[in-house]
Amino acid sequence: MVRPAAKRLPQYPEAMHLSHHSILIVDDEQGFRELLVEALRTDVIHVESAPDAETALTMAEEKHYPVILTDLNLPGNLSGLDLIRTIRTTDRRAFCIVMTGNATTEVAIQALKEGAYDFILKPFTLVEIKASLKRALSHYGTLRENESYQAQLEEMVAERTGETMKLKEDIEHLFESFVAASVTAIESRDPSTSGHSQRVAELTVSLSEAVNRTEGGHYGSTYFTDPQLREIRYASLLHDFGKVGVPEHLLLKAKKLKPERLDHLLQRLHQRDLEGSLELFEQAWESGSDFDPARLKELMDARRRESRALVERLLRCNEPQHLLQSELNELVALENLEFKHWSGKTLPLMEPGDMECLRVRKGSLTPSEREEVRSHVSHSFRFLSRIPWTGELANVPDIAYAHHERLNGQGYPRGITSGEIPVQSKIMAISDVFDALVARDRPYKRALGVEESLDILNDEARCGLLDRNLLDIFLEARVYEVTTSKSREAP
Ligand SMILES: [Fe+2]
Ligand SMILES: [Fe+2]
Repeated sequence: MVRPAAKRLPQYPEAMHLSHHSILIVDDEQGFRELLVEALRTDVIHVESAPDAETALTMAEEKHYPVILTDLNLPGNLSGLDLIRTIRTTDRRAFCIVMTGNATTEVAIQALKEGAYDFILKPFTLVEIKASLKRALSHYGTLRENESYQAQLEEMVAERTGETMKLKEDIEHLFESFVAASVTAIESRDPSTSGHSQRVAELTVSLSEAVNRTEGGHYGSTYFTDPQLREIRYASLLHDFGKVGVPEHLLLKAKKLKPERLDHLLQRLHQRDLEGSLELFEQAWESGSDFDPARLKELMDARRRESRALVERLLRCNEPQHLLQSELNELVALENLEFKHWSGKTLPLMEPGDMECLRVRKGSLTPSEREEVRSHVSHSFRFLSRIPWTGELANVPDIAYAHHERLNGQGYPRGITSGEIPVQSKIMAISDVFDALVARDRPYKRALGVEESLDILNDEARCGLLDRNLLDIFLEARVYEVTTSKSREAP
């Protein structure tokens, strides 16, 4: 990042140094010219002369004269006024002093209108002409100083503007790098959603641009500027950043029970099966001469069938798909099972925590686990709120904060309704849901096709969850193709 260098303003000298300036005297009387050349010449002022306007103009083309003293009546085609007009047109910095013997008020006004600096009546004294010349040179000096000062200021402004632009570019680059690093952090935490942030950003920005192109309807007058589109992009890239604060096993939880817990329960079922078989053997042994091997086999087979059925039921209920009421009822049988602990106690095979997991009607998370996963939104908001976003990006935290809110208030974490949800978040919600549906298989769900996913989006809009008008734009502009065409090509 470039820190702007401390600069000092240019210093004004007390007076303009007037050395080596040339002035031009234009008069048809040679004696008068020579007299003035001699009288006005000094060590620092070089005096030249011309007998007519044409000659003076030729000389002025070759060289800049800060002051030109001219008669009005000149021989040739051009008068003194013509000379002043032409000089002032080509060299605004030249000061013209009129010297005339037959002045009228009209002539004087005309001369001043043409840009004459001063008007001196002949005959004049040397003191008068020198005073006029001194004033003209002093004004010329001031003018030059102002020009020089202005040029320095312009140079400084250009330099500062360049530094500011560079600083802005550096800040933008810093933000881009920071956002990219954050996205990497999110995805390394939850590899199953790899690319989700990027795809949601692409979809959300594309839908926002489609809103910009919409001329009529509810969003006809909505327009996002370039900085607002950038704000939307950052909010989308970072919307799930809070997942870094959610335990990894919950983000990746594919089944209702943790693998090690399922293993434990299967082991207990196996043990229970062995215990039952042993009991049958003991009963048969104790029956002595009435021992009936065929009957024992029948009982053992029945026992095994029951155990197999219990295992299948457990595995079925452990799947994250929608649980039917009949399956929910079957769980009661599992809940009442017992096994013999090594200590000799008879204990329930399932513990309360196991049953809470298995009773989940849809998905793999219990209500408390779901809350923990949902807390990623608040984590995202807290994290994003601590970043000193520049003014143009000030809404990034608020946009991300509302990405799981729903129009009818059934979203989270705040349960706010349509009027309180930023339109950018409503756009992101459509992108987020769509990408989650079509995303390649995640541990807890299979990937859906585009058509099936769009049907679900339509259902959600019908239920008042997603914005109908925005979804129409999403569908009409085929925004969903932005990512689906890519993901189909992806390995
Ligand atoms: Fe999210
Ligand atoms: Fe998301």
